[in-house]
Amino acid sequence: MQDHFTGQPTFICGSLLPGPQERRALQHDHERRLAALARLGATAAECGLRPDQGETDRDLVLLAEDEVSLLEASGPEWARLGDAIRALRALLPVRTLEDFGFPSVAVDDAENQNPLEETNPRLRRIGGGVEAWAFAAVADGSAYKFYLPREGSRIGSEFIFRPGDETILRAEAGLGDYRALMEKLLLVHALGGMATEVVAVTPEGILVAKQTIGETLPQGDDVSRVLPAGLIEIPSRFLRANRDHPRLFFLATGAAGEPQPYLVADLHARNFVRGVDGALHVIDLVAAPWPAGGAAREPLVRDWLERVRRDPAATALPGALDDEL
Ligand SMILES: Nc1ncnc2c1ncn2[C@@H]1O[C@H](COP(=O)(O)OP(=O)(O)OP(=O)(O)O)[C@@H](O)[C@H]1O
Ligand SMILES: [Mg+2]
Repeated sequence: MQDHFTGQPTFICGSLLPGPQERRALQHDHERRLAALARLGATAAECGLRPDQGETDRDLVLLAEDEVSLLEASGPEWARLGDAIRALRALLPVRTLEDFGFPSVAVDDAENQNPLEETNPRLRRIGGGVEAWAFAAVADGSAYKFYLPREGSRIGSEFIFRPGDETILRAEAGLGDYRALMEKLLLVHALGGMATEVVAVTPEGILVAKQTIGETLPQGDDVSRVLPAGLIEIPSRFLRANRDHPRLFFLATGAAGEPQPYLVADLHARNFVRGVDGALHVIDLVAAPWPAGGAAREPLVRDWLERVRRDPAATALPGALDDEL
């Protein structure tokens, strides 16, 4: 299938649920895109290019091939940078908002006039929260999400970790970066959520994702009993998060290597939809890689992490039920 807006191949069409083979291919695309971004970061650093604030990756995501093409002959590191840009571009094409049916807005006006607020004959607004503006395509009903950059170069959301007062760790959701957003979309997918593709990035840095559409649930529905399989409860003395249902999840990738631990949360009713299979599927969450340093290095936490890695039902202390702690 071809995407109606980009002409690129797509596995997503309206409410149809892609099969296991398509889902594996989609997950592989997410993994390759994240790997391409990491490689681009590493090659850019070799060339002495670092993202502006030293901590966000927006500049990398928008780096155009022709910005370095003249330099590519000047050394192997520049040639590698050109390759890395092309590799990411192949997995994350640049498309304009006009390609998606939005009016063009003069750069000077972009601050006052949000083009996503304008009526769009090709995309019908279905929602929008803190991170994304969500639409349904008139052509095939698929959901499209436009993640707007905030505060210059931040986007989406991610947890940061601090030592807690009553708990060992405190996880606070804040603005994230492009890597975190792409990782979130991979996690949605990996948790059996609605199939999700990263479609494009716009010259303004808006990340566009496409998702199988489902039926929304009444706000406030209790979803705590239907959370996706594979999520591990975190002993309450280890972590407190400022989002619903914080859980540990080991993300297995297609590449060799151990599954990597993540904190996953914000799994409330509005972040689930019902698919045509009648089941609930995650559409959105807040996550972060489980920290390797800081308070997470406490032996109690580290031992627990290793035990649940081998046995997801393991308790916080060997032989003890968590309720007794
Ligand atoms: N795949 C989908 N199927 C049906 N509705 C959807 C889908 N994706 C998004 N929506 C609608 O758009 C809303 C916002 O989407 P999403 O949760 O991905 O963005 P968000 O900005 O993180 O929102 P919030 O801050 O409210 O969590 C959803 O609560 C839902 O009503
Ligand atoms: Mg949401």
